[in-house]
Amino acid sequence: MARVPLLLCGALLLPQRLPAAPTDFDTRIRPIIVRHCVACHGAEKPKRDLRLDRISTDFNDPATLVKWQEVLKRVAAGEMPPKAKPQPTAAEIRTLSHWISAGVRAAEARRRAEGRVVLRRLNRVEDENRIIRLERISSDEWRGS
Ligand code: HEC
Repeated sequence: MARVPLLLCGALLLPQRLPAAPTDFDTRIRPIIVRHCVACHGAEKPKRDLRLDRISTDFNDPATLVKWQEVLKRVAAGEMPPKAKPQPTAAEIRTLSHWISAGVRAAEARRRAEGRVVLRRLNRVEDENRIIRLERISSDEWRGS
């Protein structure tokens, strides 16, 4: 009897899982962050208000994207964790950097694909403007002559 509510709970929770390769994040990325970052960027007095214990992995969200780019910059530069603290291994830095870069690239590709649609629309407007300009020129010439 007690199993039915449990199953229901599971079904309700499933759709709330975060997108963007959560498996990779949970198995490979989160452990690095927990080991090296969460002491200062967790629930308790997070430095610069940056919570890395519950950072989203939805790179399509611009605010999330910016956070991860900042993380990549600081980690790649060897600025985070601060020098005085135990440092991640080269392999950990590589794993984290590659995962972030891949996420950023995928999000940029998606945005470019959407941007192309916007550009096409813009081109159409430009074409119309060009036609209007051409018409004006020819009417000016017409007046001039
Ligand atoms: C010992 C504490 C400590 C640890 C561990 C630590 N940080 Fe920080 N972090 C800070 C402090 C203090 C600042 C604010 C000063 C600064 O920007 O250098 C900061 C700032 C940052 C910022 C800039 C945030 C902003 O909005 O300006 C990022 C990004 C960051 N940390 C990422 C990380 C990552 C990723 C890790 C783990 C790999 C990490 N930090 C580990 C203390 C820490």
